[in-house]
Amino acid sequence: MLERLESLPADPILGTIVACRNDPNPDKVDLGVGQYKDARGTTPVFAAVRAAEERVLADQATKGYVPPPGDPDFLSGIVVTLLGPDHPAVVDNRVGAVQTTGGSGALRVLAGMLLRALDDAPLWAPNPTWGNHIPLLGAAGLAISQYPYYDQSTHSLEFDAMMEVVRQRGPGDVVLVHGCCHNPCGADLSPTQWDEFIEVAAERRFTPFVDFAYHGLGEGLDADARGIRLLAERVPELIVAYSASKNFGLYRERTGLAMAVARTAEVAATQTSQMANIARELYSMPPAHGASIVATILGDPDLTTSWEEEVATMRTRLNGLRALLSARLRETTGGTEFDYVEHERGMFSFLGLTPDQVTALQRDHSVYTIPSSRMNVAGVTEDNVDLVARAVARVV
Ligand code: LMR
Repeated sequence: MLERLESLPADPILGTIVACRNDPNPDKVDLGVGQYKDARGTTPVFAAVRAAEERVLADQATKGYVPPPGDPDFLSGIVVTLLGPDHPAVVDNRVGAVQTTGGSGALRVLAGMLLRALDDAPLWAPNPTWGNHIPLLGAAGLAISQYPYYDQSTHSLEFDAMMEVVRQRGPGDVVLVHGCCHNPCGADLSPTQWDEFIEVAAERRFTPFVDFAYHGLGEGLDADARGIRLLAERVPELIVAYSASKNFGLYRERTGLAMAVARTAEVAATQTSQMANIARELYSMPPAHGASIVATILGDPDLTTSWEEEVATMRTRLNGLRALLSARLRETTGGTEFDYVEHERGMFSFLGLTPDQVTALQRDHSVYTIPSSRMNVAGVTEDNVDLVARAVARVV
């Protein structure tokens, strides 16, 4: 029976890792999967993570299961870091949360909860959105439509067109937004645009679904959370998929959290029970290690400070690389068409290349973006920036 199944092409994002790894060119540049890299091109383990990990290993008395809904210190640590200790939802205990297998696990658990609440919960996602949003949420059973978000030809937000669609949503609709550092386009709502979105969400009473995978990498831990904090004050319910992969550098530990902010503490507790039950159906219990590390960091003021500094270092480096790359692209192309790269935020921007140009960039220059021409800016280094800029200038 199983022999009937056909082999599938590589995942568009994960396949780039393999294609680049198989390229023998020593000067190859991997701008594919979203992983932070330092000036040497390596994805470092944070000093705060190393210190916390040593403590976790020294103190660990058992390998027994993590009971649902997960490590309580991890859950409260992330909730407080995201919403702030004085947020009314935190003070009133109106936040339900379960520990998940990365941000993807959180998305899947939340999709399950939406479908339990409403058989055909329609979800509206931005166009473009993360390449795995539609496969993952669609496979869970959500009916997905898209609203306009970013115009690749002008490299600007299509905010008016977005809001035209959002204004037509109502109770029973779910609107997915990226918390910050939009993946794949790097263009975020400004504070004024967030305010308008929040106003409309409060008035139209749809359910906002915030994917928060890059907290701290845009403008700062508090600045990036401004929109979600205000949103959580104004709407009766919202859900959040949070990932610690990037901002704690815990990619392979699969550390994430599904969160639901509700009208009352009772409703939040009910939603926690639903999310824990869905996780049980999917994978039973979450892995312990990454969450223990995060809980240890957030439970210790010195480690928290060290972690915050490392997040700031990543953010400053990413923004510096954006400025450097767009300056080099200005020199090599003789034009200003890539200036937007400097002003976008987070790990990603589109280069705006055609599929043929993406192929030429890989084949002729060993520079790897994913097929949509999304580049991971963190793959640029001071050493390879000239090569990248020259390669892009040649293919366009
Ligand atoms: C990415 O977008 O590159 C990351 O979020 C990794 C992934 O799972 O796709």
